[in-house]
Amino acid sequence: MSKPYKTLDDMGDIQGKRVLVREDLNVPMQDGAVTDDTRLRATVTTVAELADRGAIVLVLAHFGRPKGQPNPDMSLALVTKPYEAVLGRPVRFIDWEGADATVGTLQPGDIAVLENTRFFGGEEKNDPAVVDRFAALGDMYVNDAFSAAHRAHASTEGLAHRLPAFAGRAMEAELAALEKALGNPEHPVAAVVGGAKVSTKLDVLKHLVARVDHLIIGGGMANTFLAARGVDVGKSLCEHDLTGTAEAIMDAADKAGCTVHLPYDVVVAKEFRADPPTRTVNVHEVAADEMILDVGPAAVEALGDVLKNCRTLVWNGPMGAFEMTPFDAATVALARTAAALTGDGSLVSVAGGGDTVAALNHAGVASDFTFVSTAGGAFLEWMEGRELPGVAALAG
Ligand code: 3PG
Repeated sequence: MSKPYKTLDDMGDIQGKRVLVREDLNVPMQDGAVTDDTRLRATVTTVAELADRGAIVLVLAHFGRPKGQPNPDMSLALVTKPYEAVLGRPVRFIDWEGADATVGTLQPGDIAVLENTRFFGGEEKNDPAVVDRFAALGDMYVNDAFSAAHRAHASTEGLAHRLPAFAGRAMEAELAALEKALGNPEHPVAAVVGGAKVSTKLDVLKHLVARVDHLIIGGGMANTFLAARGVDVGKSLCEHDLTGTAEAIMDAADKAGCTVHLPYDVVVAKEFRADPPTRTVNVHEVAADEMILDVGPAAVEALGDVLKNCRTLVWNGPMGAFEMTPFDAATVALARTAAALTGDGSLVSVAGGGDTVAALNHAGVASDFTFVSTAGGAFLEWMEGRELPGVAALAG
C-alpha cells in the first residue's frame, strides 16, 4: 500500500538544500545531564541521512513549556552537547537572534539545532507569522517528531503547508508500527491499559473496546472497574464517581465481543511505600484499611496465557505501582512474557505513552518489544483514535 505522505525517498537531490527537520528533543535532564536519551537516539537516522546526502540540516524542536518567553533553563543550548555525543557529529547551536545570518554560514552536511521554538508566543498558536519566520530559514521541511504530532503548532503543523513536506524515518517507523498494532492488526489483539486513573484514559478505553479482542486493565484504574463490579477495594485509589462509566465501558466491550480482564488476585498493603508488609489476596478479601498496589501472580499467569493466544499487543501504562518494590512484579512479569512471545515471533508488541517506556526499561525488555514509541501524549491521542494534526498535515 502506498503511503499517504512523502518520505525522505521522495526528496530528490538535496545537496546544499536547507532542510528544516522537526525533531522532539524534549528530554528529561538533571544537573545538566540527559537522564533518558531515547528521543535523541530516535533522531539519528533521519538527521544523519540528510547530512550525508549533502543537506544543511536545521533541527527545530521545543524544550519544556516556556510559554512564549525566552528562558535560559529551557534553552536548547543545554541539549546541544549531549545531542552531539549521541549523533557522533558536530552540532551547531543557533540562537533566534541573527539566525538567518548564521544559517547562511553553514555548509552542506552541517547540522545545527535552532533555539527552542516555544520561545515564540505564536509557535503554539500556529501563528502564520511564526510559520513564515521558520520557513524563511529553509527550503524543505521534514517532520520526524511523532511525539509532538498531537500539537497543531507552527513547527509541527503550519510548516507542512508552507514548505515541501516529508515524513522523517522515525516518524515513518512510528506510523508503520501503529498501523500494525491498531490500524490493520493481526487478530486476536490484546491491549494492556494501566496507570493510576481511569479519568485520563476514558477515551482510550472507549476506542479500544471496539477494536481489540482482549482488554487487560491494570494499575489503579482497575480498582474503579472492580468497584463497578461490586468489589470492596478498601483504601485503594479508586474513582468512585466513575464506576458508572466503567460499567458502560464493560457493557460496550461485551457488545463488541471484547473480553475485559480484571485482576482476580491482588497484592495489598496498608502503606504506600517501598517494601511494606504485603498480602496477596483474592479481590474479595481486601480489608478496609488496605490498598491494592499490584496485580497478583495468579492473574498475571492467566494474562500471560491470554497473550500466548494473541498475535498483536498494544501496551500503555503499568499494571501496578511499579516505581516501588515489590509492586513492580506484575508489570515486569507480564512485560517479560510479552517480550518472550515477541522473540518467538508469535506476537507483534507495540508500547508507548508516559510511564510505559520507563516500566519496560525497568523490566529490561524495552528493546525486545517489536516497537516502543517515543511518544507520551501523542501515543494516547492515537490510542483514542484521534487524528494527529502533525501527521494529517503531512498527508497534504
Ligand atoms: C512530550 O514530551 O510528550 C512531547 O515533547 C510534547 O510535549 P508537550 O506536552 O509539552 O507538548
